[in-house]
Amino acid sequence: MTEWWRSAVLYEIYVRSFADSNGDGIGDLNGIRSRLSYLRELGVDGIWLTPFYTSPGADHGYDVADYTDVDPQFGTLDDFDALVATAHDLDLRVVVDIVPNHTSSEHPWFRNALSSPNHPDRARYVFRPGRNGGPPNNWTSAFGGSAWTLDAGSGEFYLHFFAPEQHDLDWHNDDVRRDFEDVLRFWFDRGVDGFRVDVAQALFKAQDLRDMHEPVPRTWHADWVTAVNQPELHPLYRRWREVSSEYPGERMYVGEIVLRNQEAVAEYVRPDELQLAFNFTLLWEEWDAESMRETIDRTRVALDAVGATSTWVFENHDVTRLPTRYGGADAGLRRARAAALLLLALPGTAFLYQGQELGLEEVELRDDERQDPIFFRTNGARLGRDGCRVPIPWEGGAPPFGFTTGTPWLRMPDEWSRLTAAAQERDAASTLALYRAALALRRDRAALRDGAFEWRDGARGTLVFARTRDGETIVCAVNTGDEAVGLPAGELLLASDASVGGALPPDTAAWLREEH
Ligand code: GLC
Ligand code: CA
Repeated sequence: MTEWWRSAVLYEIYVRSFADSNGDGIGDLNGIRSRLSYLRELGVDGIWLTPFYTSPGADHGYDVADYTDVDPQFGTLDDFDALVATAHDLDLRVVVDIVPNHTSSEHPWFRNALSSPNHPDRARYVFRPGRNGGPPNNWTSAFGGSAWTLDAGSGEFYLHFFAPEQHDLDWHNDDVRRDFEDVLRFWFDRGVDGFRVDVAQALFKAQDLRDMHEPVPRTWHADWVTAVNQPELHPLYRRWREVSSEYPGERMYVGEIVLRNQEAVAEYVRPDELQLAFNFTLLWEEWDAESMRETIDRTRVALDAVGATSTWVFENHDVTRLPTRYGGADAGLRRARAAALLLLALPGTAFLYQGQELGLEEVELRDDERQDPIFFRTNGARLGRDGCRVPIPWEGGAPPFGFTTGTPWLRMPDEWSRLTAAAQERDAASTLALYRAALALRRDRAALRDGAFEWRDGARGTLVFARTRDGETIVCAVNTGDEAVGLPAGELLLASDASVGGALPPDTAAWLREEH
């Protein structure tokens, strides 16, 4: 057993925005296949594809109408098979999204549910009578507003933790649990290496429908949401683990468990449950060594206790791009480049989001360009996630930069001519070159990939740690402070910035090989 997923680097592909093969302005499976060699050269171990299933697109694919087919917008099942085959030829694993918390309103189950109060499929969803003329309780949608919408036909309300077109399934229903096993098998049979489980902490809802505490806080995590993180999830994931174990080749699950409390997360990654859980704690930290170190320790202690591997994530399709979060412009990029060396030196599994390796910033879109339901459901109070979903600039001097031959579904900024993959491939100082060099070192050096971890003393404002294996020690030093500090001893293997030399200037990072 290699347990490949314990030290892999997986690259998230937001399918709509990666590469368009047919000129309709929307990325698709054939587009992805045509760009896989870029990922091979980048040096990642596999890809995670966001949903490409049949969907009316109310949440760009996270509203699934058929779990076992490809939306014509993205291609066909044959295209999917070809993509998996090419990826496997290139030694790239393929992880696909599964969206078990809710279906689209266009799923036949939901249509049946609306057709008659007696239809058995109605029990697959959470329909409940209202309270005092309003919804059954005060639960809120993560996208804004109430989590309940009235079904005028029956006078009952249905539950949706996200958009009203995303109907929460009732996981206490036996048919739901049985049918999702078939969905898992369908894709395992087609060769996928694993699943990313969407909002994995939310499938079962508290059956007593108890009100949430008010005022409802606005946080990135769901620790306070008493409706979710229910005990029934653990037997479910044990069952899913059994299903994956029936297949050869170490298939895996990575749960999107949106909890800050790492002890609670650890329960989901016990040896017979999910293999991995996204860890968003570092993503939400400021650029500050002290708090980052505390977060890293807290995660490792909690997950080590159950024998699980930590994962590290700085970007995904739901959050503002890293250089922008770190202050934007030159300073933001400088920090984001230093964070790349931190990410790829930490022990565990790393996730990259498409465009992170190009150092892309969040795009400022005009209100009339926005498409995210979050923007509309909050009447613009929250801008939503479109700014990190702008298509990838591949080559050329002007939009659409080789992404499509048509008009990209989100506007691409003119300034990206400097940041195309092709331009960065020609520039040894580019962010792409930094990621390539870091990933190559991580592949070559077992110490970096799966060596033992140890903190080293460092000046205030720095993170310094060592990874050791087979007599080789590689030290990672990151300076988040505002003064230069001395560089640890050793041979400099890689630096996030050309200014790193005798010293480690502010907002830079370095990898060094210790001389024994
Ligand atoms: C997850 C996805 C997000 C989606 C939501 C509802 O958080 O990452 O993009 O909107 O689930 O499916
Ligand atoms: Ca297309």
